[in-house]
Formats: sequence, C-alpha cells, structure tokens
Amino acid sequence: MSLLRRIVVVSKQAELQQLAQQVGQEIFVADDLAEALDIVETVNPELTIFDDSFTPGHIREFLDKTDKNLGNVPVVVVGGIQNDAAAPTQFMQAGAYDYVQTSRDCSRLRQIAQSIKDRHEGGGPDKSPSPFFVDEHAAAVSMAGRSRAFVKTLGMIRLVAASKCNPVLIVGETGTGKELAAKAVHALRCPDGQFVAVNCAALTANLLESELFGHVKGSFTGADREKIGLLELAGPGAILLDEISEMPSDLQAKLLRVLQEKTFRKVGGLRDIPCNATIIASSNRNLYKEMKADRFRRDLYYRLNICPVFIAPLRSPDRQEDIPLLAEYFLQASTICPEKRQKVTCLTKFAMEVLEKHDWPGNVRELCNVIDRAILLETTDKIGLSSIILDQDECEESAESQSGVQIRDFSLAKAERELIARALQETGWQKTQAAALLGITRATLYAKVKQYNIKKDLSGRQEPQCDAPASSYLQPAIA
Ligand SMILES: Nc1ncnc2c1ncn2[C@@H]1O[C@H](COP(=O)(O)OP(=O)(O)OP(=O)(O)O)[C@@H](O)[C@H]1O
Ligand SMILES: [Mg+2]
Repeated sequence: MSLLRRIVVVSKQAELQQLAQQVGQEIFVADDLAEALDIVETVNPELTIFDDSFTPGHIREFLDKTDKNLGNVPVVVVGGIQNDAAAPTQFMQAGAYDYVQTSRDCSRLRQIAQSIKDRHEGGGPDKSPSPFFVDEHAAAVSMAGRSRAFVKTLGMIRLVAASKCNPVLIVGETGTGKELAAKAVHALRCPDGQFVAVNCAALTANLLESELFGHVKGSFTGADREKIGLLELAGPGAILLDEISEMPSDLQAKLLRVLQEKTFRKVGGLRDIPCNATIIASSNRNLYKEMKADRFRRDLYYRLNICPVFIAPLRSPDRQEDIPLLAEYFLQASTICPEKRQKVTCLTKFAMEVLEKHDWPGNVRELCNVIDRAILLETTDKIGLSSIILDQDECEESAESQSGVQIRDFSLAKAERELIARALQETGWQKTQAAALLGITRATLYAKVKQYNIKKDLSGRQEPQCDAPASSYLQPAIA
C-alpha cells in the first residue's frame, strides 16, 4: 500500500512509533497534548495517533483546537493501556476517526491509513496528478523529479525492486537521495517489512559489528545481555548499509560471507542465523576507485555491483531541469514556517535563475535547505533574490556567470542592488515594468531604490548610479 506522508504520534510508547512507521513516511512524536498541537500545526499531518492514556476529553479538546486552524485531522486512538471495554465508543463519540485495540494490530492500522488516503484522493485537488512526481509510486515515497536522468533512476529502482537482486547498490554524490531511493526499493519489494539503516562511517569497527550481527551475552566486556543485530531485526525487510566504503576491511569480509551464505552469526555466537533481508548498500564515493586504491575489497565490490542504481547530481545536464521543479516542490512541502505556508507561494524569475545556475555540491539536500532558509527570510509572498543565500564561493561563481559582470566585492545585497539597477536601466526607469521584471511590488521597488540609494544618471549615461554606503548593503532586504 502507499504510505501516508506525515503522522504525529502522541505517546511515550515506542511500540506506537514503530506501528506508525509501518504506514507513514515521516513520523513526529509528541509527549503531551500541548506538544501535539504545536507539532500538528507545524507539519500538517494526514493522521494523528494517540494512545489510550489520553481521555476522550483530551481528544475532543485536541480536535476542537486543530479544527479551527487546520480542518479535520483524523485521530486514531490505540488501546492497550486502559483495557476499558467502553473506550472505543467513548473515543469515537469524542470525534476519533477510529480505534485500534492494540499496538500489535498493524493490519487494522493499514486499513485505516488506506481509507484516509482514499478519502483524500476521493475529491478535490489531491486527485489531479502532481506535477512533481512521475507516478504514484514516486509520489508515495516523495521522490520528486521528472528529468531524463531521474526517470532513468526511477526505472532502475523499479527493475531492481521487482527482481530478486540482493544486494542492491545505490551510488550518487552526497544529498542526491540515496536513502530515499533505498526506501523506494524497499517500499516496492517488501512494503510490510521493516526498513533499518546503519551508517558505516558513524560507528567504530566493534560497535558496527555488534550493531549488524548482534552479540551473545558475555561475548565481550560490557556485553551483559544478548543483543539482536540489525540483520536479524530487518527480518524479510531491508537493511541499508549507508557509506559502505567506510566499512572496516575485516567487517567487509564478514559481510561478503553473509551475502554469499545468506546466514550470519552473532558476535560470540555459534548458531547460524538466516538472513532474509534485502541488503542495500549506498556510497557517495566511487567504489571502483576505492577498490583500485585497495581501500575496498575487490570481492565485495564485484558482489555488490550487480545492478547499481545511479543517482545523478543535480548539476548534471540531464538532471538540471529538476532544479526548478524541486525548488517549487520544497517550497510547497516545507514545514519550516507554517504561518507562511499559504503565503509564500512562488519564486521570482531572478531567484529561480540563480538556483538554476548554482552548482549544488550538496545536491537535493542543499537545495531543500536553501528553500527552507529563503522561506524564513522572505517577507513578501514571492521568494526574491535577497532571500536566496547560497554558499558564498559557489554564489560568486554563479552570479558572475549569470551577469557576465565580474563582481569582486560580492555580497547578496550588492547583487540585489545591481539587479535592481539593471532592471531599471533595461526598462528606462519604468518602475512598474522594472518591478514586474524583478517579481516584486512597486512599493518594494521604491523601498529598495531608497535603501540602496540608486539614482538615475542625468548626465546621459545609461547606467544608474549606485552610491550606497557599504554598511547599507548589510541591512536586510525590506518588503
Ligand atoms: N528526488 C527527491 N525528491 C524529494 N526530496 C528528495 C529527493 N532526493 C532527495 N531528497 C531529500 O533530500 C535529502 C537528502 O536525501 P538522502 O538522505 O536520501 O540523500 P543521500 O544521498 O543519502 O545523502 P548522503 O550521501 O549525504 O547520506 C532528504 O531530506 C531527502 O528527503
Ligand atoms: Mg544517506
């Protein structure tokens, strides 16, 4: 089944969070009602799950408060704490969408999630196909993009997921969406199974080994009880070995054995445990080069590299068209500033141009952050150039290549001033036209002309005069 996008879980019970993970992509957890109201307002979830330590009165209060601002957020209550036979009726009377007897009843929650999804899709704007996603599957895992390179990647994901290919290798620069792609493979292949991930660069060799394989009690100092490893925990689901190139060499050998034998042993254990999970490895390093440099085992490289899924960087020519699409997508999906959600709805032409010309070394993650930051900074209803803050070095490059002018003393404010001056020049100081060109209102243009002290040159020269003191360039842009 396709997943709900965002779920808020109001509970301290870990089981409830795990249950929610079976039907949702992004899970947010609140401890109490006040926190729940805050989070719900921020993330606008498709479902909120409460445990039954909350009373029907709490649910009524929650619905009353959220209904005012957000409309109807369905609430599901999961029982198990109170064991009160009358509870389901009371919760439903208080306005709950449904009641699930226990946190172990995953299939019931799936049915409910499906009915919520159907309800969303039953009418209104959600029914029309989204411009951001190639198909329903890409939408279900929130993989936005329509470029040729991206469609190829999606095709590969589909192909690999439908096959028995195991292990699966996903390669791409940092931030290109490797983890998202791993989740997409998993969602297609075994949607009901667990998805677990471990970052091979984040743990010491010993910790990583015990994390992966688990250990038996007493197998090393501090192993005071038996531990189940992620390979076992994943069951028939999937395990993502992130940054596989950073895995220590002797552990690479042990992993190779798992891939060949489909069994493993806990640290200190003697029993072979079957491994049924899909093993997905991801790397932002070139594994071939790592292998050639003797930093990655040759045998493991060839075992992993069966049918690699490659994700192109954003700057590559056949993926560049995803930049404006992803910018628009993050603009509408951002949860950073809920009060601006309906207000800031698009980007100006110049702002978009700057994004398109940027190199994006941090790829999709960097773009997502830039849009979040722009939403925070923007004071009008359109993201303008002054709210787009890129990495300084890249920024200089893209501004230079954009204007063809060598801007040595670079600052965003200065770039903005130059653009305004250019727009005024091009339109012969027709302020309405210049404002339209810049994608700002006339009032904003007036304010900025004043702020930057841009003057019309009356000597007959074409260029407008900009003689603002340096300090004024540091002032934030005004609406
Ligand atoms: N096609 C996409 N559509 C929407 N969001 C995306 C897309 N690709 C990546 N993202 C988002 O960008 C961020 C980075 O993605 P992800 O963590 O999957 O990248 P990664 O390649 O694993 O990065 P790293 O190498 O640094 O671990 C995440 O927030 C993810 O949701
Ligand atoms: Mg990753």
